[in-house]
Amino acid sequence: MAKIIAGMGTSHTPAIGAALDNGKADEPYWKPVFAGYEGAKRWMEEVKPDVAIIVYNDHVNAFDFKIIPTFALGCAPEFPISDEGWGPRPVPVVQGYPEMAAHLAQSLIIDDFDMTIINEMEVDHGLTVPLSVAFGQPKTWPCRVIPLAVNVVQYPAPSGKRCYNLGKAIKKAVESWDEDLKVVIFGTGGMSHQIQGPRAGLINSKFDKDFLDGLSQDPERLTQIQGLEYMRDAGNEAIELVMWLMMRGALGDEVDEVFRFYHVPASSTGVGSIILETREFHEHRKGKAAA
Ligand code: DHB
Ligand code: FE
Repeated sequence: MAKIIAGMGTSHTPAIGAALDNGKADEPYWKPVFAGYEGAKRWMEEVKPDVAIIVYNDHVNAFDFKIIPTFALGCAPEFPISDEGWGPRPVPVVQGYPEMAAHLAQSLIIDDFDMTIINEMEVDHGLTVPLSVAFGQPKTWPCRVIPLAVNVVQYPAPSGKRCYNLGKAIKKAVESWDEDLKVVIFGTGGMSHQIQGPRAGLINSKFDKDFLDGLSQDPERLTQIQGLEYMRDAGNEAIELVMWLMMRGALGDEVDEVFRFYHVPASSTGVGSIILETREFHEHRKGKAAA
């Protein structure tokens, strides 16, 4: 059976992608950012996931204001890269897994989550920057990807608690897919940031670090944070953090933190990342290392 073995939370700041694509990763401003992600890249190389479910938000590229799905599940065989104004990022087209995605859609909808099924979609920095920080600059991405786009751009966004519960249903859906696969789930966006208005540039590092602690130790507490509280305390776009709770909900009760990174400044965001292994996978890895 397929299993979710771990979750990765990461910011998806577009300037990180631009720095990589334009050969600026070694410049003094960006060096600490890419050095910080080295541990995550090593983990991905060691573990070699078969499938990544990437919970992210589209930034008015695939969708516009005509249709705004709250939860959109990418069921296409492949996902081309969006042109966000400077041409598409020079990264590989993202390969999907339509059969497994259709199974997830069935399981989630029968479990009372009203997913929108998307059979054609381009993906923007919200999805490609997490791939870049996790896998670097390969010729093809090393695993298949099932995108799950969440509306956090146009009010009203779903609550953190709703996302957390959808994560639990994703765990169940993955475990009922009858193929031995290692699945990693990504929660992306955030951390604290506000990109427009009088508070543009706002960063709240304490909020971000408390959020990382909560993901590891007490995610139920984080599910109590309301949408307006994210925006008041950590900037308008910090609402993206509800997507990290979907990742956390999909891991089960017990997790082991194996990677964490937090850095300011990087463009306009508090850049953070975490990898949490499920207790079962962690024990399995420890056992293998000891043998
Ligand atoms: C920016 C955009 C994002 O979508 C994000 O999550 C962080 C920063 C930006 O334009 O700077
Ligand atoms: Fe964003």
